[in-house]
Amino acid sequence: MCGIVGYIGHREAYPIILKGLKRLEYRGYDSAGIALYDGADIKLSKTKGKVLDLEARLEKEISTKGTLGIGHTRWATHGVPNDVNSHPHYSNSGDLVIIHNGIIENYESLKKELIKRGYTFKSDTDTEVLINLIEDVKKNENTKLGKAVQIALNQVIGAYAIAVFDKNKPNEIVVARLGSPLAIGIGEDEFFIASDASPFIEYTKNAIYLEDEEMAIIRRDKGVKIRKIKDDSLVAPYIQELQLNLEQIEKGGYEHFMLKEIYEQPSAILDTFRGRLLINEAIIKMAGVEDNMKRFLNADRIIIVACGTSWHAGLVAEYIFEDLARIPVEVEYASEFRYRNPIITENDVVIAISQSGETADTLAAIKLAKSKGAFVFGVCNVVGSSIARETHAGAYTHAGPEIGVASTKAFTTQITVLTLIALRLARAKGTISSSDYRHNLIELELIPDKVKKALESDEYVKTIAAIYKDVHNFLYLGRGYNFPVALEGALKLKEISYIHAEGYPAAEMKHGPIALIDENMPIVVIATKKGHYEKVVSNIQEIKSRKGKIIGIVTEGDIQVKELADHVIEVPETIESLSPLLTTIPLQLLSYHIALMLGKNVDQPRNLAKAVTVE
Ligand code: M6R
Repeated sequence: MCGIVGYIGHREAYPIILKGLKRLEYRGYDSAGIALYDGADIKLSKTKGKVLDLEARLEKEISTKGTLGIGHTRWATHGVPNDVNSHPHYSNSGDLVIIHNGIIENYESLKKELIKRGYTFKSDTDTEVLINLIEDVKKNENTKLGKAVQIALNQVIGAYAIAVFDKNKPNEIVVARLGSPLAIGIGEDEFFIASDASPFIEYTKNAIYLEDEEMAIIRRDKGVKIRKIKDDSLVAPYIQELQLNLEQIEKGGYEHFMLKEIYEQPSAILDTFRGRLLINEAIIKMAGVEDNMKRFLNADRIIIVACGTSWHAGLVAEYIFEDLARIPVEVEYASEFRYRNPIITENDVVIAISQSGETADTLAAIKLAKSKGAFVFGVCNVVGSSIARETHAGAYTHAGPEIGVASTKAFTTQITVLTLIALRLARAKGTISSSDYRHNLIELELIPDKVKKALESDEYVKTIAAIYKDVHNFLYLGRGYNFPVALEGALKLKEISYIHAEGYPAAEMKHGPIALIDENMPIVVIATKKGHYEKVVSNIQEIKSRKGKIIGIVTEGDIQVKELADHVIEVPETIESLSPLLTTIPLQLLSYHIALMLGKNVDQPRNLAKAVTVE
């Protein structure tokens, strides 16, 4: 996820773009850049770091004059965050310049072709490949920029929102979208481009939101012409009048970043497996795993190190790896692991999981494991983060920035990456039959839609939140794959509503926690059809006979739990190993609504930091 801004009109573009980038920094903040057309040439300045760093540098480096320009704030996907990989990117001739939000999946093969044709590349980005592809088409087909963009995009697999201009045609900007948002603000003889409307809300309330597979040619003198990228057909522009204020726009219309991030999970999970899960070929492609296959296959065991929610994702992974790939797994709190003189050998593979990639304890655990000769693999969200750099290899989750302190989409995308790895290893080891493997891939591909369905419980979850918001304690129970989900549900509630909550394996209840149960104790029980269902139903009966209040998370169409529980929240059916991706959704929503009803600061709960960079 990155932020893009552009302007063409009669005002100075620089202040509009700069302010717009500051507003879009929530979308990405590892580097930033601006390209301006000063009446004769393109002037470009970009840097690793925040928009403030760019501002300090740009004003010394280039003239800020010009009524045409584009800017970008980056959330790295290809290539570490550094000056060279920052956007905008020039084409080889220096005539064209581009900003891009998204991922071009087939960039490697396109790059090879372009190199054969004499193109050279300065950065590691997929975006520089795209701008040179556009240039190549433009030259070879002898077409205008708009047509060249269209032909090039028809060769691209992936997701994008782009803005491109040509210094020889400084009266137009070409934009296009597939899978990443792009809004065009319509003013009086001036046009604004942005990932959302926040950069132009004070200039105009009129906006066109491009649909997927649409492109627009925006001319200073002639306005906006929209076409379908695939078949070139013209689309009548639909101009909307914006009703939202600035803050609402940055949060995508949601009241809080946490809620936005909960709702982003279908697309975040899709982005996680995009380009990696190739369903038609029944292939999982992950360079970090392929390149180190021997290390994984020869591992005596996998040790997972992480903290908080990432540790819970690690616990889910323990079940997945052992079930599918038959590799012994140990899951460790990084903070304990680093201080207890653990036995680590060169035959161990250590997987470090971290959203931020900056958690001090996880980083220290990695260093310790490396010093003992283990191979360390990172699963991080933030590209170029300390953990991503410190590990031998890794896989990014591609969830986009997570701003809310309570982790939501990081958890589900971590589980998605870990599932892909486990399936790939299972296939390589032959511990899964080809039909089961295929079935797993198909089920994984269905997950984004099923998460969408699970999100439909939101209104009902809100009514449950209203009933229980004033209690002082909650219990969360689950078995097997859903035991870590119970822990995660309890953590979510604790951290944002400050209500005491405990997660337990359902069967452990009778070894102690059952003493807590009375008519005042709400107990969330994850009781999906696949995996120990009958056993969990028995646990529910035990709770019921002690008058506990039961909130069941059940599979669609469930009958048994419905008869026993006070409330049931349904999630779609899936295979057991993927059920945490669905059962966690209502638990995130429950904690969100309770915290909101209690008037707590949902996005920035007391005492907590998004990245814990101290031990
Ligand atoms: O960035 P990391 O994934 O390494 O962070 C680990 C924990 O600090 C984090 O998951 C924390 O527990 C969250 N606030 C949970 O919502």
